[in-house]
Amino acid sequence: MTDLVVHPQAAPLVGSVPVPSDKSIAHRALLLSAIAHGTSRLRRFAGGEDHASTAQALRALGVRIEETGSGRERELQVHGVGLFGLTEPKAPLDCGNSGTTMRLLAGLLAPQPFAATLVGDASLMRRPMMRIVEPLVLRGAPIAGAAAEGRRYVGRDGRAVADCTAPLRLAGLAEGAFLGPLEYALPVASAQVKSALLLSGLYAHGATHLSEPTLSRDHTERLLLSLGVPLRTVGPVVELDPAGWSGQLPAFDAEVPGDISAAAFLLVAAQGVPGSNVVVRRVGINRTRTGLLDMARDMGAAIRVDPVGDEIGEPIGDMFATSAELRGTRVGGELVARAIDEIPIFCVLAARAHGETTISDAGELRVKESDRIAAMVEVLRAFGVACDERPDGMQVQGRVGPLDAAEVHSRGDHRVAMAAAVLALSAAGPSRIHDVDCIATSFPRFVGTMRALGARIDVERT
Ligand code: S3P
Repeated sequence: MTDLVVHPQAAPLVGSVPVPSDKSIAHRALLLSAIAHGTSRLRRFAGGEDHASTAQALRALGVRIEETGSGRERELQVHGVGLFGLTEPKAPLDCGNSGTTMRLLAGLLAPQPFAATLVGDASLMRRPMMRIVEPLVLRGAPIAGAAAEGRRYVGRDGRAVADCTAPLRLAGLAEGAFLGPLEYALPVASAQVKSALLLSGLYAHGATHLSEPTLSRDHTERLLLSLGVPLRTVGPVVELDPAGWSGQLPAFDAEVPGDISAAAFLLVAAQGVPGSNVVVRRVGINRTRTGLLDMARDMGAAIRVDPVGDEIGEPIGDMFATSAELRGTRVGGELVARAIDEIPIFCVLAARAHGETTISDAGELRVKESDRIAAMVEVLRAFGVACDERPDGMQVQGRVGPLDAAEVHSRGDHRVAMAAAVLALSAAGPSRIHDVDCIATSFPRFVGTMRALGARIDVERT
């Protein structure tokens, strides 16, 4: 196990640093290039363990993936096998810590004529899966999970059913069988569920019509559209009707934008350390992902974004952050959906603001890699920041002077670990973050990047 010891930050954080490729976009680029025709090139593909889980699963399904270069210049060549070219895996597919890998693969594998089983690490094996099993079964997919003792899932039409977890077992479609059309209202906005259903919809006989309470990240829709798939979107409604489509995805060549969810830690770190000036270039700025920037600006944060181009339908921008005085705010609804992975680091802004901040409509955080509401309440309190835990969020009393030095646990959650490390920069003495190996799932070079900006962080193996 690894701990971080973070020292109080006396000097400004200054520099221009790279971030890993966008995790969500990279998963989708891998999956779609795997079933495209011909060889796709995914440039600037610098990822963590979650990407590796998707690549490994695709290899086990018969897809050849080669790598060249390193760091931010790493490139993948994916030799697509076509829509019907995946082959039966010899062993259960290990999705590691990655919910996106498991849920999107479930959608891609549901229409295949072979059996497959999806498993993951202890955290992933606890996460709720009925959200994908229910709609996939509705369209005829032979998929089942393991019973989740005592947990309920409020699904279609508000009906509660027993929830389930991995292992997810897909029996394989019988010869001559196919998935049917699907008209489904997602009870909770979820890009993983939406994407799983769209991937299964590429193979279905009939249209896939989905609506979400609010629009979740739309990377799958953008990539499918850019590859010529007949898909239409109106706000949080999407329809994919493969009738008349060639059934062929062309190979593609794309730069994967930097991950705004990784950049967020650096941008927030800059806010709290006087005199800081942090630059992160070529980051994805898709509106469904920029909620943190809007929330932070509303608190007075100094973050500027300059748009610089587009790749596979995704806008890219350069980001500039300097330190600022912050004031408390209230966030909820659509804004929280657009920042769903950034709430842990948003809690750091709340902790350092003048006054009170309220976070609502964030109940989904309880079923992420950890219960992120409980985890962040525990972290904030350990640093001497008062907060009230609520079922769907929290209320935080900002504390502007130096925080108490603390010893906290990541709960094995990469975003909790990094948020705690950023908060620790403002403590009165050295702080210890336990169990930080999980950071490698999304941002393997987090410590090196923070050090490049001037942070003093020691890595200790325990
Ligand atoms: C993701 C969707 C979100 C997000 C996750 C990545 C994706 O999950 O929290 O980190 O790539 O589709 P939900 O679909 O559960 O909201």
